[in-house]
Amino acid sequence: MSNDTQTQTQQWIDRYEAVMWNTFGRRRIALAKGLGSRVWDLEGNEYLDFLTGIAVNNLGHCHPRIVEAIRKQAETLIHCTNLYYIPAQIEWAELLVNHAFPSRVFFSNSGAEANEGMIKLARKYANAHFKPERRTIVCCRNSFHGRTLATLSATGQEKVQKGFEPLMPGFKFVDFNDCDGMRNAIDDQVCAILVEPVQGEGGVYPATQSFMDTLADLREKHGLLLLFDEVQTGLGRTGKNFSYEHFGVIPDALTLAKPLAGGLAAGAILAKPEVAEVMQPGSHGSTIAGNPLAAAAGKAYCEILFGDKLADRAAKVGAEVAKELRTWIDEIPAVTEIRALGLMIGIQLDRPGGAIVERCEKRGLLVNCTNNTVIRLLPPLNVSKEDFRQALDILREEIKKES
Ligand SMILES: Cc1ncc(COP(=O)(O)O)c(C=O)c1O
Repeated sequence: MSNDTQTQTQQWIDRYEAVMWNTFGRRRIALAKGLGSRVWDLEGNEYLDFLTGIAVNNLGHCHPRIVEAIRKQAETLIHCTNLYYIPAQIEWAELLVNHAFPSRVFFSNSGAEANEGMIKLARKYANAHFKPERRTIVCCRNSFHGRTLATLSATGQEKVQKGFEPLMPGFKFVDFNDCDGMRNAIDDQVCAILVEPVQGEGGVYPATQSFMDTLADLREKHGLLLLFDEVQTGLGRTGKNFSYEHFGVIPDALTLAKPLAGGLAAGAILAKPEVAEVMQPGSHGSTIAGNPLAAAAGKAYCEILFGDKLADRAAKVGAEVAKELRTWIDEIPAVTEIRALGLMIGIQLDRPGGAIVERCEKRGLLVNCTNNTVIRLLPPLNVSKEDFRQALDILREEIKKES
């Protein structure tokens, strides 16, 4: 980085600090433009983007069909209220339902908001079908479901909850992938179980098949609702359109967000019709969610994802990369485990990964470190082999320097 670069970036940092909440652990980078797997900062430094805005830019940056869909819609009708029918929103929902399971869709503006709505749905369902004491939702430790009060209360991480007490009641926690723990947690107060099929922010931990089978058994036995948070895993990321497909366990409701509208703000809840029917006019809503602009972009994203079979590609590329990464365990002492499903990849280190992330950035590779010791790779689903090669070479050298 040149001194000029420092100066320009520093100016924005100073202005930021003067007017904005200090809520993000921001990197000292200001991005100016992107194309495909690459982004450029304000001073023209080029980066390979293997973070994709945390699993949002799944088609890379400025995919021409997303750009065109947004441009055309912006010239026609940007927003109208959900008091009127919005054809593009209906087509977007049809694409999701046709590729998931028979369900009804509610659109929101974010992942947290989608989870908030799914929690409301579970409570409303319990209200309609269960006795009054049966309102508890079982969640997992080390999970992440969002930053609203309900979703942080459902999140099994103290650092997310700390300082925001009193938390919302109605949640209890078991260890992820602990089948006995989950069985023991189910009593006559439990109405639902909420899990991420792959814990993302917690460090890329896929569910085991036996854990998912246990959840399905418990649903069968107790008639409770199975709720999957697919905000990070959904829509191609794990090598399936929806990550529940890996396990053959269809949830009663699931949430989506991140890549759902090609980079515009959006989330969604898909729920089986017999569950969704408890929500009636007045039960839930949003002013902007699913508006024509988001819907046009979302429809374009889904058409490309499903039409080009990008999940299959992610599965193939992800498997090859994971195989190579597993050789690092013997080669690089700092690497202790590789956890991966499709293109959601975690490199477990025996130490904090912050310094590696910083050195990768200096060499033109954007990745992040989650849960302090896990380097997480979330490249675009259409990333080229050459770009992957370049990224892995940088990463390998920088992790090696640690060892
Ligand atoms: C699994 C999961 N759920 C929910 C959220 C919250 O989504 P948002 O930041 O869009 O509110 C995230 C964000 O990282 C997530 O990974």
